[in-house]
Amino acid sequence: MKKLLTVAIFVFFSFVSFAQNDITSKAKAILAKMTLEEKIGQLNLIIPGDGAVTGSVVSSNVENKIKTGKVGGLFGIYTPEKIRKAQDLAVKYSRLHIPMIFGLDVIHGHKTIFPIPLGMSASWDMGLIEQSAQIAAKESTADGLNWAFSPMVDIARDARWGRISEGSGEDPYLGGEIAKAMVRGYQGKDLSSNNTMMACVKHFALYGGAEAGREYNTVDMSRIKMYEYYLPPYKAALDAGAGSFMSSFNEIDGVPATANKWLLTDLLRKQWGFKGFVVSDYTSVNEMVNHGIGDLQTVTARSLKAGLDMDMVGEGMLTTLQKSLTEGKVSLAEIDQACLRILEAKFKLGLFDDPYRYIDEARPAKDILSTDNRTAARNMAAHSMVLLKNDKQVLPLKKSGTIALVGPLADNRRNMLGTWVVAGDWKQSVSVLEGIKQAIGNSANIIYSKGSNITDDTALFLKRVNALGVEAEIDSRSPEVMISEAVAAANKSDVIVAVVGESANMSGEAASRADIGIPASQQALLKALAKTGKPLVIVLINGRPLTLVWENEHATAILDAWAPGTEAGNAVADVLFGKYNPSGKITATFPRSVGQIPIYYNHKNTGRPFDGTGFPKYKSNYLDESNEPLYPFGYGLSYTSFEYSPVMLSKTKLKGEEKLTATVTLTNAGKYAGEEVVQLYITDPVASVTRAVKDLKGFQKVLLQAGESKEISFRITTEQLSFFNSDLKKVWEPGKFIVHIGTNSSHVQSAELEWNK
Ligand code: NOJ
Repeated sequence: MKKLLTVAIFVFFSFVSFAQNDITSKAKAILAKMTLEEKIGQLNLIIPGDGAVTGSVVSSNVENKIKTGKVGGLFGIYTPEKIRKAQDLAVKYSRLHIPMIFGLDVIHGHKTIFPIPLGMSASWDMGLIEQSAQIAAKESTADGLNWAFSPMVDIARDARWGRISEGSGEDPYLGGEIAKAMVRGYQGKDLSSNNTMMACVKHFALYGGAEAGREYNTVDMSRIKMYEYYLPPYKAALDAGAGSFMSSFNEIDGVPATANKWLLTDLLRKQWGFKGFVVSDYTSVNEMVNHGIGDLQTVTARSLKAGLDMDMVGEGMLTTLQKSLTEGKVSLAEIDQACLRILEAKFKLGLFDDPYRYIDEARPAKDILSTDNRTAARNMAAHSMVLLKNDKQVLPLKKSGTIALVGPLADNRRNMLGTWVVAGDWKQSVSVLEGIKQAIGNSANIIYSKGSNITDDTALFLKRVNALGVEAEIDSRSPEVMISEAVAAANKSDVIVAVVGESANMSGEAASRADIGIPASQQALLKALAKTGKPLVIVLINGRPLTLVWENEHATAILDAWAPGTEAGNAVADVLFGKYNPSGKITATFPRSVGQIPIYYNHKNTGRPFDGTGFPKYKSNYLDESNEPLYPFGYGLSYTSFEYSPVMLSKTKLKGEEKLTATVTLTNAGKYAGEEVVQLYITDPVASVTRAVKDLKGFQKVLLQAGESKEISFRITTEQLSFFNSDLKKVWEPGKFIVHIGTNSSHVQSAELEWNK
């Protein structure tokens, strides 16, 4: 049997490498016919003026450039009609008829918008996450695209950073599993089929480590921290077969990622074996002039030599590489290499067989925003929501009596989609008011009142968050008038549902915040509502962890709905009324205050750890704040309650490559059927380098009926004990280990064992 498996694996890999060789030789044949200018043209990725612009430069004279072979790909446009027109220019007019590749920021859906990625990660449901990417691929290929600038796999430990919303939170293991699921979803089994597309893993690398959470800021990190905590999700995406990578804006060890040879060649290609191509981020080549490592010609030559293949928007490659070649600053072999990788990607996508393979004018009507896609988005959104508090079992709500529905995000379609929705149309989204009305029909009354603006800080804040269009409209009534109307509604009701939080563009790119509370105008509303003494249910719309100490103390319940996407209101109603019992668990720690940031569960112990009791001097703590987060990583409640037995180990003394099984009995002790994310953590208390207090090493999402018990087992191998040592070698060291299984990173059952070599 083992022999048969080995043969099968050998045949599979021989086939993969044969296919790759075949593609390479075909690409080489084309390369042999190309002029230097045409080769450099393939390295040029540009955005026509009407695309989604995320920088100050926009490409010009696009049509002529395409016709003369100076463009390898376009991004920012979609629809079969537009893409056919553009592809015609390349295929019919350029000398060698080389097709272009078409990319877009398809981040959490194309037109059917799924929850923001941070929200989806809270589902811990790999099947649903993969399905979301698969639907995104189906919709965007129906719109002529074949390249998604996703998944974004940057680990983030700082909620001030707006782009924490675009990733999967703080944990490398969970982040890696999600990265793989996304790549599988986009690329499917056959990259050349017309409903799959190439993934682009971003932002390589460490972009989430920006100092002070300030966008585009410097990153400075030890190698051991990179290898252990920040790099694994990129590697996981690569292992899943991702076809392309995008370099990040930040520097690493003093060299911007876009020209960092260690990163793009030594690590990515030599150590990890990446075979695809690397594109820069938006003008990140040119921006290295500001970083201070040379003029445009110098930084461009450095980026090519470092291993960058494609230049997004800035055209440094187009305008300086010929000169650099003449001056001996780059070699023809380096230009050929980059061009070859791009041609290979086009072969993989099947574009040389049929440049119009993704262009079918009949597809959008049947493949985009279909009932099935919307149903999947609704389901994903419900699974993403996290119940942060539920006193006196106020949720699920009964469909009777009177509900005061208040808050600036309650009757609001605009902000349901969240950040990064190039093709998403907010008019297609369902507001919370609409969703609730639909769910209750005539069985309960609703009194709606806006209650406040998203923010009253019109001078600065609003102008910035509305920079991409109106996301937060200002009601001209005074705050007092709006609040008193909402309080009157509350006084006439049995329960208040307040939909509050952030507008779509308060998170995402270039949306860092120094204060991550709910904006003051909405806090004033919440305080007035709490004074009525009516049960107060907060439905939070947010793109990041927020500081919610007051809300946690005064609200009766808090449901974190993130930015739920197109089906927002329906999914919120599904959860509020118990059609779906919430099962989401946060994947980024919620701090009590900004001063605790960066705060994350897998921190080190320090030499003077604080055990949380008393006010000892000379311990690792604060004078004015607890060390504890408000909600720890992995936290989330259910309408039912789960009980964990102690952990049972198959053995407590192991040797070599033996395997361990750790088991708990999980009981649904409440009244509702529900899903629980059972989390496995391991502590390595003594090692040659300092280790985190615990690290996530596994999880299972299980459904239990009310009253049901199930044994949940995890197989543990030495792989889960291993870590990067001072030589950056992945090793495991013998000795004592602690296995924890529990409902979140802070509440676990633990058992000790010894594992020797
Ligand atoms: C800049 C962003 O950093 C990146 O995520 C995105 O893919 C590009 N702009 C293209 O829009």
